[in-house]
Amino acid sequence: MDALLIHGGSPLDGEVRISGAKNAALPILTASLLAAEPLKLANVPHLKDISTVLALLGHMGVRVTLDDKNHVTLCGESIPNKEAPYEMVKTMRAAILVLGPTLARFGEARVSLPGGCAIGSRPVDLHIKGLQAMGAEISIEHGYIHAKCKRLQGARIVMDMVTVTGTENLMMAAALAEGATVLENAAREPEVVDLARCLIAMGAKIEGAGSDIITIHGVDALHGAEYSVMADRIETGTFLVAAAMTGGRVRATHAQPDTLDAVMSKLGEAGAKVSVGPDWIEVESDGRLKSVDVRTAPHPAFPTDMQAQFMAMNTIAEGAASVTETIFENRFMHVQELRRLGANIEVSGHTALVRGVPRLDGAIVMATDLRASACLVLAGLVAAGETTIERIYHLDRGYERIEEKLTQMGARIRRVH
Ligand code: UD1
Repeated sequence: MDALLIHGGSPLDGEVRISGAKNAALPILTASLLAAEPLKLANVPHLKDISTVLALLGHMGVRVTLDDKNHVTLCGESIPNKEAPYEMVKTMRAAILVLGPTLARFGEARVSLPGGCAIGSRPVDLHIKGLQAMGAEISIEHGYIHAKCKRLQGARIVMDMVTVTGTENLMMAAALAEGATVLENAAREPEVVDLARCLIAMGAKIEGAGSDIITIHGVDALHGAEYSVMADRIETGTFLVAAAMTGGRVRATHAQPDTLDAVMSKLGEAGAKVSVGPDWIEVESDGRLKSVDVRTAPHPAFPTDMQAQFMAMNTIAEGAASVTETIFENRFMHVQELRRLGANIEVSGHTALVRGVPRLDGAIVMATDLRASACLVLAGLVAAGETTIERIYHLDRGYERIEEKLTQMGARIRRVH
């Protein structure tokens, strides 16, 4: 199993090219199930989660090709196999995204229930309830969601909680339903908007994506399209925090500053200098940071996927601050590992109180989930001496060539087998 070795203490300096967003690419790839014609995509990141979903789509019958310009073309002309097996869903919950499009186009789908997950129970009840409201008959058999329908019917669906993939699944299903569907209390995340844009390019009729009410007027069929996936706002945010923590200067290029308001404002509050251009963000810092309180909530508030990285930043900032997680239970697994590096953190329920310490010390730590791994990389970049991060396969699910990108900016980091 691979590990990362980091020698802390070098300020980052330079430019980093941001990759396409994993969480936008995943639903957009599954949108290929909605049309018989090819969907040609640019800016799809090279990540483990992306290969998992491509393998799943291939297993179902989508023809996937990659050209020399790194465009991914998906042709869902015929889908002989309308099933997502447990082996594939268990490694990546987002595989649930094949449910809505497959059911809407073919009137049938079987998708394994995702198992437990390191960051909480994460049920999919709202995906199921929404499809039932549109007329699907759904049963749970042998650990599989078995969904059937004639043609889905438009419906008004008020979602009990804000769910990102839930909104995406229902939006894709509604694109081919008969009549209008209104999703209320919909997720407003930029990735939902990116999916809506791609669906519109395929001929869907969608209004209001980016607000909490999305209206979808169903059409009989979608067609092929070309689309470029948005920039990854979480990757961007992670590199910006790295600049602030190491007392360096990083310009993230090919980024989308309008998707990072909450993160940039917190970095400013911490004392870093943040500048913005049309498609870049630059953070400069002398490394002397103030602790900042963080409370995660659905977009446009502070993203849960940046919580662990800001926790890492607070461990070496001046003063004390609280970090409150409101989206997922059990998303503080990085706390114990940060403590191994010398951090002072107390957890009470959904809130962690972080008291800044003068320095962290390198140690062996273990990555437990994707964003927790990113937080350990950040801590390792400032810890004195050597930090070894084990189980970095989590990191490979969501960060493209992270060690190369950091090395280019002066970090001393390498992968060992
Ligand atoms: C997506 C992101 C993930 C991010 C999360 C929150 C993708 C592939 N992943 O995950 O990186 O951390 O949004 O921004 O886009 N819930 C239910 N019932 C449901 C669905 C969700 O109770 O049917 C709950 C979850 O347990 C959680 C909350 O709703 O407490 C939000 O989850 P959700 O937005 O669905 O997260 P994902 O879409 O899985």
